[in-house]
Amino acid sequence: MHGKVYIVGAGPGDPGLLTVKAIRAIEKADVILYDKLVGDEIIEMIKQMNKKMIYAGKRSNERGLERQKEINELMKKYALEGKIVVRLKGGDPFVFGRGCVEAEFLSKEGIPLEIIPGVSSINSVPAYAGIPLTHPELSSSVLVVTGRDDIEAWKQTPLQGTIVILMGRDTLPGICEKLINAGRGPSTPVAVIEKGTTREQRVIIGVLEDIVEKVRRAKLKGATLVVVGDVVNFSNILNGSKKI
Ligand SMILES: C[S@@+](CC[C@H](N)C(=O)[O-])C[C@H]1O[C@@H](n2cnc3c(N)ncnc32)[C@H](O)[C@@H]1O
Repeated sequence: MHGKVYIVGAGPGDPGLLTVKAIRAIEKADVILYDKLVGDEIIEMIKQMNKKMIYAGKRSNERGLERQKEINELMKKYALEGKIVVRLKGGDPFVFGRGCVEAEFLSKEGIPLEIIPGVSSINSVPAYAGIPLTHPELSSSVLVVTGRDDIEAWKQTPLQGTIVILMGRDTLPGICEKLINAGRGPSTPVAVIEKGTTREQRVIIGVLEDIVEKVRRAKLKGATLVVVGDVVNFSNILNGSKKI
């Protein structure tokens, strides 16, 4: 009997930014595997619950790949024992968090998993400092990069990196055309997500050259977010949502 692994975002540190879903998963967990960036107050809170807690962040001088294998095996071991495991990560697990690597591993091992997104530092840390990322007159886009890349890599984002487009439902035909003209391959994967995370969520997967027709047939009406880039292919592997 397999247990289950919840890959959970703990938010940026303030326990008030843990989601209700995260707290519920923690409450029912047998084992918590937590990362370095999970806030101290959150760790203290979980300690009061008398859960088995294992530090699963990187140790100093440790090679990332070896440690990742070790963490994967820990998740697998407890899940195969039938345990409920919470893999608790700072911020959101799918934002520079290797949550994707762990989810892919579990999925390939046939271990039941669920992703519980967290409040990412991307927007919450600036917000606590009184900084809005967008403003009707000052900025209508946000570039998220790591400081490990150089500016040349940043410039490649429109051609290679992931693009998340908000409010793009009605302008999708022009966006796809312009991205192809700008050098993005016509077979670049695209996901169009309507009413994401709600009971009515719909996910339409296509590529730059056919997504417009698929979206037209689906007659979307609600709030829509578009993701462009190879990461969209993970949707097949992790298969977390209803797709058209
Ligand atoms: C490996 S990334 C993980 C990001 C995380 N998954 C998220 O969604 O926020 C770690 C980096 O996120 C940023 N970060 C995360 N939490 C933060 C916080 N509370 N304050 C400032 N920066 C934070 C720092 O730049 C840190 O080096």
